Amino acid sequence: MTIKNICCLGAGYVGGPTCSVIALRCPEIKVTVADLSKERIAQWNSDKLPIYEPGLDDVVKTCRGKNLFFSNDIEESILEADLIFISVNTPTKIMGNGKGRAADLKYVEGAARMIANIAKSNKIVVEKSTVPVRAAESIANILKANQKPGVTYQILSNPEFLAEGTAINDLLNADRVLIGGEDTELGRAAIEELCTIYQHWVPRKNIVTMNTWSSELSKLAANAMLAQRISSINSLSAVCEATGADVSEVARAVGLDSRIGSKFLQASVGFGGSCFQKDILNLVYICECLNLPEVAAYWQQVIDMNEYQKHRFTTKIIESCFNTLSGKNICILGFAFKKNTGDTRESPAIHVAKTLLDEGAFIRIYDPKVDREQIDEDLTNPQICEEPEVIRKRISIYDDAYNASKECHAIVLCTEWDEFIGLDYKQIYANMMKPAYVFDGRKILDHQALIEIGFHVQTIGKRL
Ligand code: UDX
Ligand code: ADP
Repeated sequence: MTIKNICCLGAGYVGGPTCSVIALRCPEIKVTVADLSKERIAQWNSDKLPIYEPGLDDVVKTCRGKNLFFSNDIEESILEADLIFISVNTPTKIMGNGKGRAADLKYVEGAARMIANIAKSNKIVVEKSTVPVRAAESIANILKANQKPGVTYQILSNPEFLAEGTAINDLLNADRVLIGGEDTELGRAAIEELCTIYQHWVPRKNIVTMNTWSSELSKLAANAMLAQRISSINSLSAVCEATGADVSEVARAVGLDSRIGSKFLQASVGFGGSCFQKDILNLVYICECLNLPEVAAYWQQVIDMNEYQKHRFTTKIIESCFNTLSGKNICILGFAFKKNTGDTRESPAIHVAKTLLDEGAFIRIYDPKVDREQIDEDLTNPQICEEPEVIRKRISIYDDAYNASKECHAIVLCTEWDEFIGLDYKQIYANMMKPAYVFDGRKILDHQALIEIGFHVQTIGKRL
């Protein structure tokens, strides 16, 4: 089989950018990204894409309507596809067995059932969403139990390693592409087909093939180990604050050891994003199910340290402001979980905002890329907020940092957007209540300059 048609189920943060880059690099292949959501597909077909990702607009503009299509016609997309990526959401379960930890595979299962019901020809089905180990087996079971005569399936695991904010670069210059499949003649042939697609732009030596379960576990392991580095440096940031050491200096010294390396050692208010917490919880759950409680406890600690870090940061804010925030205006700069994305999933800013609201503060939020509706949803969703209307009255959302910080008692920086570094802090200081505080949760500001202006400054991992 030569792949001429690709369908991707799920037009989210993974499916959208990944398939746009495949379309860019494989002009002879027709790529259709199909989603159940009419609104999402309409946005992908409009000038304002549903996700903000540097470089994505250009790629979509180049390919859309030529060999890249966004569609709600899932049936047609599956029928004509030779290869189908499953890139649907895999949130943490919110009820039942494994609640709060296990990955909810209902969307993956739904996608597999759709393929089984619709397909009339052979398909290579590729799981791209991060899934628990052996999820490919569940997909295979569903497909095989509903197999029509003459239709065969090969299931591959091809986890995506892109990070938001750098997705296009990560896709174009991937460190590695991982493909897991069955060690049978048909399995190897399917792996080869997928390799052929990536070989349009990824050197063959960077495409790693392995068995399906290793591939699935490698994705969880990579995310767990990245998050572990952040929790490790964050744990040391607490030691630095207690002793007078500077965590940036420690990170630099440690990172110069080539065995350790310098990346992912940036202490912060805590990690966020849709993957780290979800994947580690999932790993912890798997370990418990496999009767490996010590391993489960080890990885759980990475999450616990992240919670501790967020808690430590908000406690510092409250204690510095005379232990009361009641009636005070606090400006939150940045709401996304990192810079260069509009995504707020598991953003530490949500934890910070909620804690400050619980203390009775009025919060004024500015983020360059997060929509107002998203902030409102994150803070007043009835599932997490008992009195949405009361809380909503204490939240204001602004279009710039100057208005957001006016008459505030404190600025709390939660996302490391570059534009926050170059703000005119003298002007900001002049318009704030005194004493005026800055709590830099990302260690990006010039603290000495802020102190000279008159601010009381606190940051992570350093006494000022
Ligand atoms: C992560 C993985 O990096 C990616 O390979 C995987 O496919 C999906 O999960 P993502 O969550 O998009 O990507 O962003 P990432 O850059 O990993 O950042 C995650 C969180 O860690 C952010 O909140 C970021 O601010 C924080 N972080 C990152 C730190 O606090 N310190 C660091 O040194 C690095
Ligand atoms: P991710 O960050 O993993 O890409 P998102 O939540 O951004 O996750 O996107 C997942 C997308 O998958 C959503 O737009 C959702 O509507 C879509 N989806 C869920 N189930 C299906 C399905 N069976 N077929 C097509 N799309 C689906």
